[in-house]
Amino acid sequence: MPTAPDSMDIDATRNPRLVPTELLRRAYVHYGESRNPSARSYVPLDDGLEVGIVSSAVPTIARAISSMLTRSLDDARNDRGGHLPSNVVERVQREIISPHGVADLWGTTGHRFVLSRAQGEQHSELLATILVGQSKDTLFFFTGRYNNLRHSTIAEDVDFSQPDADDPGQRWFARFAFPDLVRFKPRAYHQIANFVVAREHRGQGFARLLLDTIVARYSRDNIERRGASIEHSQHLLCGRGLWQIGDPPWLSRMLGLGFYLRWGAESFFIEHDWAPLPPIFAGGRRISSVEYNESFGLPRRYLEEQPPPHSPEHLVDRVPEVIRLSRDPRAKLQYFQTMFDFP
Ligand SMILES: CC(C)(COP(=O)(O)OP(=O)(O)OC[C@H]1O[C@@H](n2cnc3c(N)ncnc32)[C@H](O)[C@@H]1OP(=O)(O)O)[C@@H](O)C(=O)NCCC(=O)NCCS
Repeated sequence: MPTAPDSMDIDATRNPRLVPTELLRRAYVHYGESRNPSARSYVPLDDGLEVGIVSSAVPTIARAISSMLTRSLDDARNDRGGHLPSNVVERVQREIISPHGVADLWGTTGHRFVLSRAQGEQHSELLATILVGQSKDTLFFFTGRYNNLRHSTIAEDVDFSQPDADDPGQRWFARFAFPDLVRFKPRAYHQIANFVVAREHRGQGFARLLLDTIVARYSRDNIERRGASIEHSQHLLCGRGLWQIGDPPWLSRMLGLGFYLRWGAESFFIEHDWAPLPPIFAGGRRISSVEYNESFGLPRRYLEEQPPPHSPEHLVDRVPEVIRLSRDPRAKLQYFQTMFDFP
C-alpha cells in the first residue's frame, strides 16, 4: 500500500514553487574562483528569506522557475487583456520558459537568481527570480531567430540578409527597426530577463529586495566601494549595472524599481504587404499601431521632456527616428530599453 504523503508533499504538488530546502541549497552554484571559497553559496536574509544563484539544470528548480514565469506571462495574453498575441505567448511558454527552456536555453549564459522563503522545516517557496547575463557581452535574444549571441560578434554571427521565408526579396530583418548594432547594447551592463515575482506575492517589496541584494552582495564595484566583505562563494557581477530589452507595459514598473529609460533605443515591428501585423486590441476594441504607440507615451515623451544629461548610453541622436516611427501607421512599438546603474 502506498504511504500517505506528508502535508508538505501535498502542498508541493499544489504549489510547484515549493521545493525541498536541501535540494535548493544543493542547486546553488559554488564558484571555485570565489574570493571567499569557503563561504556558503547563497545569501541568508531576515525572516527566512534567502537569495542565491541556482543551477537551472536541476529539474525541480527549473520546473519551479518555469511555473512562476509561465503563470506570469499568461497575464500578457491578448485574450486576457494583455499586450501580446496569444500565439506569441504560447511560443515563449513552450520554447523559452518551459522547464527545458529555463534549463537549456538562456540559462546556459545567465546567472539565475532566486529569492526564496523558508516554509516549515524542510521546504522553501520560490518567490521571485531574475536572469542576469554572466558576461556583459551576452545578448539573450535577438528577434525570435537568435538566442545567446555575443554583442561583440553580432555583425558576423547574424545573417542580416536572410529571407523571411521562401522569397529572397522578402527579408526577415525588414520586419524590424532597431538601434544600430554597435550601440544596440550598452557595453558595460549585464542584460536581464525573466524578472518576475510570483503573482500572489507582488506589491510586498520582493522585487526591490532582490535588486537591492544583487547590488549589495553581488556587484563587485559596489562591494569594493563600500569596503564591504564578500559573504558568499558565488560569482560577482563586474558590470556597471543592468540592462533590459522590455515589453512596452513593463516600462512603468521598471521605472518604479529604479531603472531609467535608455533614450532613443526603442525597437519597432515594421509592417509589409507580405508581413501584416497582427491586429492590436486594447480595452476590448481594435486600435491602430499609432494609438498603441501613443498609449506608451510615444512620441509625446520625446516632444515634451528634456533629453537626459549627456551620456554615451543614451541614443539621443536616434530620437527623431523614434518620433517618426511612432507616427508611422506601419510601425508598432516592440521594445523599450531600460537601464539600472549599480550605486
Ligand atoms: C514587476 C514586478 C517584478 C514587481 O514586483 P513586486 O515585488 O510586486 O515589486 P515591489 O513590491 O518590490 O515594488 C517595488 C516598486 O516597483 C513599482 N511597481 C511594482 N509593481 C508595479 C506595477 N504593476 N506598476 C507600476 N509600478 C510597479 C512600484 O513603484 C514599487 O514601489 P513602491 O512600492 O514604493 O510604490 C512584478 O509585478 C512582476 O513580476 N510583474 C510581472 C512580470 C514583469 O512585468 N516583469 C518586469 C519585466 S521583466
